[in-house]
Amino acid sequence: MNKYPLLTSPIQLGRTIFRNRMFSAPMGATDITADCSPGPRVQGFYELRARGGAAAVTVSELVVHPETDGSHMLHLDLETVGNLAAHTFVADAIRRHGAVPSIEFSHSGQYAGTYMSDKNKKDSLNQWGPSEGVRPDGRPVKGLSKEQIADIVRAYGEKAALAKRAGYEMIMVHAGHGWLLNQFLSPYFNHRTDEYGGSLENRVRIVREVLLSVRAAVGPGFPIEIRMSGSECFEGGYDLEEGVRIAQAVEDLVDLIHVSAGSYQFGFFTTHLPMFAEHGANVYLAAEIKKHVSKPVATIGALNDPAQMERILEEGQADVIYMARELLADPLLPAKVEAGTEDTIVRCLRCYTCMAERPTTFTRRCAVNPLIGRELEGMDVTPALRRKKVLVAGGGVAGLEAAITAARRGHEVILCEKSCQLGGILKSEQAIPFKYEMYRLGLSLEKQARAEGVDIRLNTLVTPEYAAAEHPDAIILAVGSRPIVPPLPGIDGENVVVVNNYYLEKEKVADTVVVLGGGLAGCECAVHLGMEGKKVHLVEMRDTLAPDCNIRHRPILMKQIETYVTAHTGLAGLKVTPEGLLCKDKDGAEVLIPGKTVVCAVGQRANRTDVDALRRCAPFVREVGDCVRPANITKAVYEGFHAALDI
Ligand SMILES: Cc1cc2nc3c(=O)[nH]c(=O)nc-3n(C[C@H](O)[C@H](O)[C@H](O)COP(=O)(O)O)c2cc1C
Ligand code: SF4
Repeated sequence: MNKYPLLTSPIQLGRTIFRNRMFSAPMGATDITADCSPGPRVQGFYELRARGGAAAVTVSELVVHPETDGSHMLHLDLETVGNLAAHTFVADAIRRHGAVPSIEFSHSGQYAGTYMSDKNKKDSLNQWGPSEGVRPDGRPVKGLSKEQIADIVRAYGEKAALAKRAGYEMIMVHAGHGWLLNQFLSPYFNHRTDEYGGSLENRVRIVREVLLSVRAAVGPGFPIEIRMSGSECFEGGYDLEEGVRIAQAVEDLVDLIHVSAGSYQFGFFTTHLPMFAEHGANVYLAAEIKKHVSKPVATIGALNDPAQMERILEEGQADVIYMARELLADPLLPAKVEAGTEDTIVRCLRCYTCMAERPTTFTRRCAVNPLIGRELEGMDVTPALRRKKVLVAGGGVAGLEAAITAARRGHEVILCEKSCQLGGILKSEQAIPFKYEMYRLGLSLEKQARAEGVDIRLNTLVTPEYAAAEHPDAIILAVGSRPIVPPLPGIDGENVVVVNNYYLEKEKVADTVVVLGGGLAGCECAVHLGMEGKKVHLVEMRDTLAPDCNIRHRPILMKQIETYVTAHTGLAGLKVTPEGLLCKDKDGAEVLIPGKTVVCAVGQRANRTDVDALRRCAPFVREVGDCVRPANITKAVYEGFHAALDI
């Protein structure tokens, strides 16, 4: 029986039929070639989502009017050799898997230059907005003339005709998230006194002109979608009430109203909901707009559970579900929903690795999916030429990922875990609600491993003798790490809980707590304890909390720290006492940080002894994950996957 009859039912927009209600939201491409075309990796990136069963796959943010917008390099023209062909290949790659190729048209307006890898270059650009002014970063903004507006409107039509020619079958006009069309809609940005500013009718004018220009180019029946923020969600911006009126003002010109939220500049974490927010926290915006329009409405925002998505459709809150990050974490989600194998869905952790990678390295990665950004290097897990016996030591993320991949390649795989449970370090995340998806990752990997026929042996330590008796062709060493416990007086006391054991000893934690160690694990545990209503002090020896945390997650984590925790940096722990943690500051003075419990979170050390004992026990031996160097899920998943491809 189909548990998700609405989610899997087709929908017609314009004259196009979409195979289900699960659409892939725009996510910026990375290997854009020097001539501003999508490169082969971009094609692979979008193709993977089409193969996974999404009904529409949206290619992201094509710059419509490069003359006034230099934010991204990707634009579509006929002057650049190969540009149209490159887009045709991308559209083909999406279409050949049964998905509708769509493309998002965007103009950054006054925020041009935001995504340049060389931030200094933005200074050589002109930033054009609805009105003259100064950006928060000090860059001057010039107001667009009416002639320029007319040219931008014309460019939308011109690009739409080219996009249609390339094979795109839907166009998404981006009028949300703080970019140019949103800037016109917004009373915060738009101070014009001509027919493009002032009243709502005037602020919407350019959007209507753009939609008409696109329609004139693509003809009747071709689906056009508007992406808008249901509310700008910041003071001075438009609110939901006005969002409803905006949707009403354009609905006659579109086939789908896609309701997102917030803006990049003043609400990044509203647009991209963090792990601290509810799943689907923005659905209310679509639901309200849907009450007031007659065209289909789409919703988005931290949606990764098919049951919740089905409910949203059932309750009439939206007609289409868009997903961005979840389809990086598991591009196969729609296919799994269709096939009824949703229990193997890999959930997005909302860790922001994907978003942090672009400003950092201008590539894409996903913590839980080793293919993302590297689709061409392994979209197909190829069967091995010869079936080999593979022994995996360690049932954490790296070991599980290696075991699953090796089994998919046809190898005989034994996975040994010395404890009574799989999941490794992720087990400790189960008591922290906002990190529950991390715990669930272990469960999902275990299900996948069992489904692939991996012989899982719990309570089994791999020793050289054990390995010799099994006589494997290959050993994957994924024996992980163990928590570092500093040799402080009192650290063995009943009032100390090592962060990895928090899920087992939660009840021991008193109402006043000192968390020792301000790395990522310590910070997140401290926030959680604070959310539980405890008085929490966080002690870190370095000057900075969680310095290794990615640049997207860190600011929001620090906000949570400010709200729930009293943080102390530059303090070294000396001794655990019944009253708290005695510390030494930089001047050598002793300070007692009060707390009845001390949670120790000072980091992990690789299990090198186990590795050293086993590294010569098979013709092929590979070390993966934390036993190489304690790091993060991204590294464990990536190394586990690729080790198995090498066997
Ligand atoms: C890696 C990444 C890249 C994104 N790039 C774009 C983009 O180019 N254009 C756009 O309109 N939104 C972009 N977004 C925003 C998403 O389309 C989506 O609105 C947002 O991530 C919330 O959906 P989610 O919670 O399902 O991830 C991007 C999001 C991610 C995670
Ligand atoms: S990197 Fe993290 S936030 Fe991004 S899709 Fe993957 S799991 Fe989700």
